[in-house]
Amino acid sequence: MSQDLNPAIWPLSATRVNGEITIGYISVSDLADEFETPAFILDELDFKARASLWAKALQEAFGTNAGTAYYAAKSFISTQVARWIEQAGLGLDVCTDGELAVAIAANFPAKKIELHGNNKSESEIAAAIDYGVGVIVIDSLQEIDRVARIAHEKSVTQGVLLRLNPGVDADTHEAISTGHEDVKFGFSIASGAAWDAILSVKKHDSLELRGLHAHIGSQIFTPDSFELSASRLISVLAKYRDEFGAELAELDLGGGYAIAYIEGDKPIPAQEILSVIATRVKSECEKARLKIPRISIEPGRVIVGPSMVTIYKVGTTKEVTLEDGSTRWYVSVDGGMSDNIRPALYEAQYSISLANRSSSAPLRKSRVVGKHCETGDIIIRDVQLPSDITPGDLLAVPATGAYGRSMASNYNHMARPPVICVLNGKARSIIRRETHRDLLALEIEEEPRQIGKGEAK
Ligand code: LLP
Repeated sequence: MSQDLNPAIWPLSATRVNGEITIGYISVSDLADEFETPAFILDELDFKARASLWAKALQEAFGTNAGTAYYAAKSFISTQVARWIEQAGLGLDVCTDGELAVAIAANFPAKKIELHGNNKSESEIAAAIDYGVGVIVIDSLQEIDRVARIAHEKSVTQGVLLRLNPGVDADTHEAISTGHEDVKFGFSIASGAAWDAILSVKKHDSLELRGLHAHIGSQIFTPDSFELSASRLISVLAKYRDEFGAELAELDLGGGYAIAYIEGDKPIPAQEILSVIATRVKSECEKARLKIPRISIEPGRVIVGPSMVTIYKVGTTKEVTLEDGSTRWYVSVDGGMSDNIRPALYEAQYSISLANRSSSAPLRKSRVVGKHCETGDIIIRDVQLPSDITPGDLLAVPATGAYGRSMASNYNHMARPPVICVLNGKARSIIRRETHRDLLALEIEEEPRQIGKGEAK
């Protein structure tokens, strides 16, 4: 088992009291009694602190050249979270009309919203323009024409950024690396597609090209890929200035900053990584004799990831004999790949702790699994757990705030867990637990009706 409640991994208020984990001054047993399990517990204090930290770090690193820290809604969003994000002075990056709908429901200031997506529908573009979003980040040639036409129809001049592909192979899992050449995102700088896109945007009066964007991937530990990406974007800014005699005002360097999931993960603190990137941005701009543009970022995971802990209840345990004669202890909990798909999808690793009590029982080679009908339904593949863990015990998995609830599914018709916000001894659901009624509500009994002109043979 990991070192107990390492503050680099657990939320700010997590601590043990009389052997039991408490978050926001509430014990996990009390939370489980009140809200049942599995449940995502969100430490409000932690979330707000990280949101402010990243907004402030951007200011400190770039000073008067600091643009907006857009919180990436895809990592986890709700109207409550959107309001906290606004209060902390951040903007919001949305990439579907669903995420936009949450922003609108939260009354999020339109000018501080950025619309992303590699295949935005006409209705998504229209909804974003109608709400008045500050910026649409364009990702394909068709989309340039599409956004231009819709903005023109609505008599709007829409601020846009172009998403470029800087050809940077970030050191992370392939499925979440987005800045190398062979991906669906952005206009490649190396192939010249980026320049063609710039020329195309310039033809439209209804588009105002504010600048350039790149997002190179997620869960990236070192600054070098961010630096390389920034310097390649700056080379395009220089070419733009040479060609048009004017400078683009904005660079959005995307998100992707890593957090600690397990012992030994050492993410670079916000101020540090942003100041390294700032130094590089300044030196590249100096070399190219460019004014330093406004620099924006899009952190998601670093803000919400560490703020949530999932609590599960143990249902069964089983000893399995392996080929080499050793044994593995399978501990099954009441959730699994429906509330955390990341281990199955990216071989993501997490920490775990016995939560409702401490134990000095000898440790045992264990695997923590969910309750889905799949062998790959694994939460923690290899972990040493106290051998007295028994049905009814609670286990807590930290750092599940990002891409946990937001990627949850109803596989096996599991109702998705709630998100419970805790602060100073008080708790409330900000997303309630789904019910079977919610799931069955999608089913309807319709009379078959004629569709199209085809006749039955
Ligand atoms: N900006 C853009 C354009 C993005 O596509 C993303 C994430 C972000 C910002 C925020 O990245 P973050 O700071 O959260 O790393 N489901 C995967 C992660 C996919 C990230 C998709 N885009 C996971 O669970 O690891």
